[in-house]
Amino acid sequence: MAINARRLWERLMELGEIGLRESGGVTRFSFMEKERQAKDLVAHYMKEAGLSVREDAAGNLIGRREGSDAGAPVILTGSHIDTVPDGGKFDGALGVLAAIEALQTMEEQEIIAVHPIEVVAFTDEEGSRFGFGMLGSRAMAGTLRPEDLGHKDADRISIAEAMKSAGLQPERLHEAAKAPEQVKAYVELHIEQGKVLENAGAPVGLVTGIAGPLWQQITIAGQAGHAGATPMNQRKDPMQAAAELLNYIYAETRKFPNAVATIGQFRTLPGGINVIPEQIQFSLDLRDIDEADRDVLEGRIRDYAIEVCRKHLTELKIDLLQKVAPAPSSPEVKEAIAEAGRLAGLVDLPELVSGAGHDGMQFNGKWPIGMIFVRSRDGISHHPAEWSSEADCGLGAEVLYHALLRLAR
Ligand code: GLV
Ligand code: MN
Ligand code: MN
Repeated sequence: MAINARRLWERLMELGEIGLRESGGVTRFSFMEKERQAKDLVAHYMKEAGLSVREDAAGNLIGRREGSDAGAPVILTGSHIDTVPDGGKFDGALGVLAAIEALQTMEEQEIIAVHPIEVVAFTDEEGSRFGFGMLGSRAMAGTLRPEDLGHKDADRISIAEAMKSAGLQPERLHEAAKAPEQVKAYVELHIEQGKVLENAGAPVGLVTGIAGPLWQQITIAGQAGHAGATPMNQRKDPMQAAAELLNYIYAETRKFPNAVATIGQFRTLPGGINVIPEQIQFSLDLRDIDEADRDVLEGRIRDYAIEVCRKHLTELKIDLLQKVAPAPSSPEVKEAIAEAGRLAGLVDLPELVSGAGHDGMQFNGKWPIGMIFVRSRDGISHHPAEWSSEADCGLGAEVLYHALLRLAR
């Protein structure tokens, strides 16, 4: 193997100490102290790998290795180092560290590629803090709009305010955007977060496309009242509407072969045990690799929500948080990864779809994109028990190394 799997593993475990909780899970939210510590450590690794290090106007941490042609478009790689609440050590972190490992190996072998290569630790991929993810990659793609910075966290702090407190200037965000001709391709390594590779007995896979997430915040407003003194037929109870709606969402989603629906946040106001709620607020995360299916499902859920809220004399409000189109991998990047798999000694990488979202989606249609997946244990992710073996992580990094060399030659 060309890359140093041990070094990669040691860095992964060291980075996983930052934001570690008693549960064994990791929490690092964007523009907060733990994320800053993680970025400083990753910047240190980038310097050890011989990369020149900078942060752009969106807070993306970038390590660059020059090629022989200074004017050639760059090959982008990397992932993210923010996490979900109580997440794993591998989601995002592995992609950033594997990319650094690949470039450090090139440095040690004194390989000069034609194209420059940049490793990026993208700002806020997860969207855990503001309910709006892939912030850094949107900024780099040039699609982040000023109004997007109005998304607020649980403490009502907006993205713009959080950026300022981290020493960034929101009005300069446009400087993070790269022009179409500045980039040749984007390739990201990530853990699979599912069981396809495990079931296939394969350590590494080739991603054919990424399912598109649609995020909404659904608010149902009724009338608060006494839980004991208000007869059932005299209520405007948003919980009764929400209960029927939730049942419908799960049942309807099952009718589509690849659609998934998740309600991960749920809040009642004012939240008294003996008070009919005044208001219910919950999130909806809806995804499908088939955009038409996802959008049909979204429409059905909306129609049903209108009907059920009317029935319970409640008011409905649906706020769209984000709607990202599914992103197919590009033939040239897939080809480079497939060939890289053979060079790493793996016969024909299994092909699979990504159910999870990734930064590369933001580059869909602008630059060729592709992804390498590393086998996850039991398919568990966004959970403290998330795990991939040292050997599998090393093999994935080896495939990334060869893919980057092919793309950059
Ligand atoms: C990120 O992990 C997402 O798919 O939500
Ligand atoms: Mn991720
Ligand atoms: Mn994730």
